[in-house]
Amino acid sequence: MNPALLMNMMTFFSRSLLSLLLIICAISIFFPVSVSAASLAADEVEVLKQIGKTLGKEDWDFSVDPCGGEKGWATLNPSKGFENAVTCDCSFSDNTVCHVTSIVLKSQNLNGTLPTELVNLPYLQEIDLSRNYINGTIPLEWGTTQLINISLIVNRLTGPIPKELGNISTLANLTVEFNQLSGLIPPEIGDLSRLEKLHLSSNNFTGELPETLSKLTNLKDIRLSDNHFTGKIPNFIQSWTNLQKIVMHASGLEGPIPPGIALLTKMSDLRISDLNGTQAPFPPLNNMTSLKYLILRNCNLNGSLPEYLGAVTSLKTLDLSFNKLSGEIPSSFSSLADTDYIFLTGNLLSGPVPDWILKKSENVDLSFNNFTPGSQGCQESEVNLFGSSLNGSTGISSCLTSTHCSRTWYSFRINCGGKEVNVGSGTKYEADTTTLGTSLMFVESNSNWAFSSTGDFMDDGGSLKSFIQKNTSILSVKDPELYMDARISPLSLVYYGFCLKNENYKVNLHFAEIMFTDDKTYSSLGRRVFDIYIQGKLVEKDFNIVDKAGGAGRSITMTYDAIVTNGTLEIRFYWAGRGTTAVPVRGVYGPLISAISVDPDFTPPSEGGNGMSTGAVVGIVAAVAFVIILLLGILWWRGSLKGKDTRDEGGVNDYFVPGI
Ligand SMILES: *[C@@H]1O[C@H](CO)[C@@H](O)[C@H](O)[C@H]1NC(C)=O
Ligand SMILES: *[C@@H]1O[C@H](CO)[C@@H](O)[C@H](O)[C@H]1NC(C)=O
Ligand SMILES: *[C@@H]1O[C@H](CO)[C@@H](O)[C@H](O)[C@H]1NC(C)=O
Ligand SMILES: *[C@@H]1O[C@H](CO)[C@@H](O)[C@H](O)[C@H]1NC(C)=O
Repeated sequence: MNPALLMNMMTFFSRSLLSLLLIICAISIFFPVSVSAASLAADEVEVLKQIGKTLGKEDWDFSVDPCGGEKGWATLNPSKGFENAVTCDCSFSDNTVCHVTSIVLKSQNLNGTLPTELVNLPYLQEIDLSRNYINGTIPLEWGTTQLINISLIVNRLTGPIPKELGNISTLANLTVEFNQLSGLIPPEIGDLSRLEKLHLSSNNFTGELPETLSKLTNLKDIRLSDNHFTGKIPNFIQSWTNLQKIVMHASGLEGPIPPGIALLTKMSDLRISDLNGTQAPFPPLNNMTSLKYLILRNCNLNGSLPEYLGAVTSLKTLDLSFNKLSGEIPSSFSSLADTDYIFLTGNLLSGPVPDWILKKSENVDLSFNNFTPGSQGCQESEVNLFGSSLNGSTGISSCLTSTHCSRTWYSFRINCGGKEVNVGSGTKYEADTTTLGTSLMFVESNSNWAFSSTGDFMDDGGSLKSFIQKNTSILSVKDPELYMDARISPLSLVYYGFCLKNENYKVNLHFAEIMFTDDKTYSSLGRRVFDIYIQGKLVEKDFNIVDKAGGAGRSITMTYDAIVTNGTLEIRFYWAGRGTTAVPVRGVYGPLISAISVDPDFTPPSEGGNGMSTGAVVGIVAAVAFVIILLLGILWWRGSLKGKDTRDEGGVNDYFVPGI
């Protein structure tokens, strides 16, 4: 070899080596390798061993230091951050000893109980056991800790909130949503003067909210949905002046919304729905100038829409559906043209539909109101105007233009959310796969049915926009093709059959729960609860597919009698605020329907017989009939005003039809 070349190569290597060493030095200066001998205090190691046993956490490896972040002690989930971590503070006693400050074990299906032993971790500030399969009660011993954050959402916890927790003066977050806790809220909770988040939704809490809660002046975020609280929404909420978020769907509390709400001027997310109690005008929200989400749905509001809402340009979602609001849409509302969603469904609003709404490309739902019919059809841009006018037939008949009754029908079958299938000996279910603008559209099929869907899944990060769901696990059902896809709805989903012979029918609703699982994981802890109306009559209150079918992934067919008197059959599914909203992930709730079959409860004439009639004539008859049913619907709706007022137990009125 050429000596000069050899020389060159050696120089090259030595330089490379030098650079490498320099780089290593630099790295170790900026990112020092931990050589400190600090490790977890020996007594806390023993406590962790007990805690692991109590929780059923089997992959903690005690051959390494729990504070070192190795071998299962801290696992970074790239999409969700640390969902599994024991965190320590090692800055005590000259950095020679560490103490556990936080235990976060999320979504691990741990199936033990809550560890009383936590009290022996004196520096612990956080315990987060969200989305596991933990049972038992909340240990009253926790009352002696200095915890800042307790998060136990989505587990199987039972029993009450121990009054001893009122002694945790450091506590800022108490989140126990989506369990099976029960009993009264202890007045001692009012002593938690640093409390910012109090999340109690989807449990079985009862009784009135204790007056002591008025002392929680640092509260920013309170969630009370899906419980069985009693009494009125207390006016003492006015002392929660730092509150930014209230979520109160079907809490059990009664309206009207108290005047004290006016003082909560920092509110950005106000969601109240399905409130029992008497009718009342729109609450005074004039000073809530930073609202992003305003939901006052099915709250018995009457009177007119307030002008000032038009000035709240921060609004993203405005949902005032299923109230008794009347009058015109105020002109000030035109500044809400950039709002993501406006739902005014199911009120008594009148006057012309404003131009800005017809031009708005985003989602607006004005269906089931009393607007003056205009040149608008059923669906202008993404505005759902189905049944929005009642004083004339323009709006309605244009909704029916392609549903000309070229014949009389004696049945219809829909594979909701799925493709056309034939089951059994050739029974055909029609496809129902429309995903286009699905949030609000009134869609007509080529045969004798249609549907109208209202609502937006909240907090789902936009992931459920198609409103069609596929099964997530294997189904143990006959005819799985009927159940592998289902139509879901965040709020209200109505199927209509048209051009039916006026007769008696059997309505068969086919359900299978396909989003929860039937195993011992947190995905099995979902509770889907919704209401079903047929021909405007409530046939199921708090319907739960899993309960009826005997588990997730199993099917159940519910059969109801229905009388058609005007050619039209209406089947409505409505989410009345009950059930879990975050299992297995946020935004899973509301009605789910797999298939519908409506069969004659009479002997239809043989094919080719008098079933056929002149298309045009029947078309007109059907359109007129449909106007009549809508008018009847409105009469029911108005009739329900009286019906509701006289009901002091605030229960469900059989003829209360949300949306009509
Ligand atoms: C709270 O702590 C005090 C003093 O430590 C004690 O006397 C009281 O019984 C505790 N309250 C509850 C409800 O445990
Ligand atoms: C809720 O509590 C009531 C009594 O307080 C009880 O009757 C009911 O069964 C409980 N419901 C559930 C789902 O646990
Ligand atoms: C809203 O704020 C204004 C000025 O800050 C005040 O005068 C008024 O009383 C407030 N209104 C309500 C309903 O609190
Ligand atoms: C959906 O259900 C069908 C029928 O049971 C099954 O073959 C399929 O694997 C399921 N899909 C998923 C994702 O589990």
